[in-house]
Amino acid sequence: MDSWLAVREAAAAADTPDMPPECREDVVGGLRVPWPAERARRWVAESDGRVVATMILSFQEVDNLDNVELDLVVHPGFRRRGIGTALHDLAVREARAAGCRRLMSESVRALPGGPASDGAGSLFARTTGATLAQTEVRRRLDVSTVDRTGLAARIAALTTDAAGYTLLGWCGAAPDDTVEGLAALQSRFLSEAPLGDLAWEPQQVDVARRRAGERSFAARGRVRYETVARHDATGEIVAWTDVNRYHRPADVWFQDITLVLPEHRGHRLGLLVKLANLAQVLDGEPAVAVHTWNAEENAHMIAINEEMGFRAVDAWDAWQLDLGEPAGRAGTG
Ligand SMILES: CC(C)(COP(=O)(O)OP(=O)(O)OC[C@H]1O[C@@H](n2cnc3c(N)ncnc32)[C@H](O)[C@@H]1OP(=O)(O)O)[C@@H](O)C(=O)NCCC(=O)NCCS
Repeated sequence: MDSWLAVREAAAAADTPDMPPECREDVVGGLRVPWPAERARRWVAESDGRVVATMILSFQEVDNLDNVELDLVVHPGFRRRGIGTALHDLAVREARAAGCRRLMSESVRALPGGPASDGAGSLFARTTGATLAQTEVRRRLDVSTVDRTGLAARIAALTTDAAGYTLLGWCGAAPDDTVEGLAALQSRFLSEAPLGDLAWEPQQVDVARRRAGERSFAARGRVRYETVARHDATGEIVAWTDVNRYHRPADVWFQDITLVLPEHRGHRLGLLVKLANLAQVLDGEPAVAVHTWNAEENAHMIAINEEMGFRAVDAWDAWQLDLGEPAGRAGTG
C-alpha cells in the first residue's frame, strides 16, 4: 500500500499539482467495500524490486458490460521507458479476454494560466490508437472568494422563484423517502449529461445499488452532502446535486453530479440546488477549495459554475479505444 500510494502521490504532484494526492483511507476502504456493480483488478509494475507503476481495470457487472475503465499511472521518474506501453498491452489483453469491446481512460493536460504539466497522458493515449471522445475542463472554486451573505440572499431569491418545489439536504446516507427517487435520477444521469463520443449507456441503479454505493463511500471515509428538489405536486425528486470529499484532506471538496429532469428545467433548479448544497457544506465544514468537471459543450452547467465563482484550471481528455469484436461473441449476431 505504501508503494502504491507513493507512485500515485509522485504522479499527482507532476500531473495535477494543485490537487491533493490519493487518500490512503479511500484506497483501503475501496478494497474492503468495492463500488457496487463493478469489479476492479489491480496490478503494479516493479523495477529492481521497487513499485514504479500502478494499474486498475474496472469491469462493469450490471450495465455497460462492453466497457472497461483503465487507470494507468507510471512514476514520473520512470516514464519514457516503455512501462506504460507494456501495462497498456496487458490491459488490452485482459479486456479482450473478458469479452469487452472498449477501453476507456482519462488524461490531464494544462490550460493557459493553469498549473504547468507536460500532458504526457494525452500524448501517450494517442500512441495507443485511442480516440479522443470528450474533453472536460476542471474548474476550481477558491472558497475564500465566496461572499457568504450574497450566497444566502441568492438562495432566498431563487427559492422564491422555484415555488412548487421543496429542497431537502443531508450529509451521509439519504433519507428513506428520497432513495428511490435518487436511484431513478442516477439511472437517468448518463442519458441526460453530454457525453461527446463516449459510448456509455445509462446505468441501472436501484435502491440496493444506491445503498451499496453509500456503504462504499462510508468505508472509504468520504463525506458527502447532497441536496435534492422535490416537486410538491407529485412528490417526485426532480433535481439532485452532490458535493463530497476524501477522508483526507478534509477541506478540499468535489462538486459531482448535478441533474435536473428535462420536464422540470427552466426554474433555475440546477443553480438553486447547487448553491443550497454549497451553503450546507460551508456552514458545516472547513473548506478551502471545490473542484468540478464539465464537458466543454455543457454551456449551461459551465455558466452556472462560473456564476458560482469556479474558474478553469486544466483539461481532462476522455479516450476510447475500440478493441474490436470479442472473439467469444463473434458471429453470434
Ligand atoms: C501516460 C503514462 C502512463 C505513460 O507512461 P510511460 O511509461 O512514460 O509510457 P511509454 O514509455 O510506454 O511511452 C510510450 C509513448 O508514448 C508517448 N509519450 C509518453 N509520454 C510522453 C511525453 N511526455 N511527451 C511526448 N510523448 C510521450 C511517446 O510516443 C512514447 O514513446 P517514446 O518514448 O518511444 O517516444 C505516464 O506518463 C503517466 O503515468 N501519466 C499520468 C497518468 C495518465 O495520464 N495515464 C494515461 C491514461 S491513458
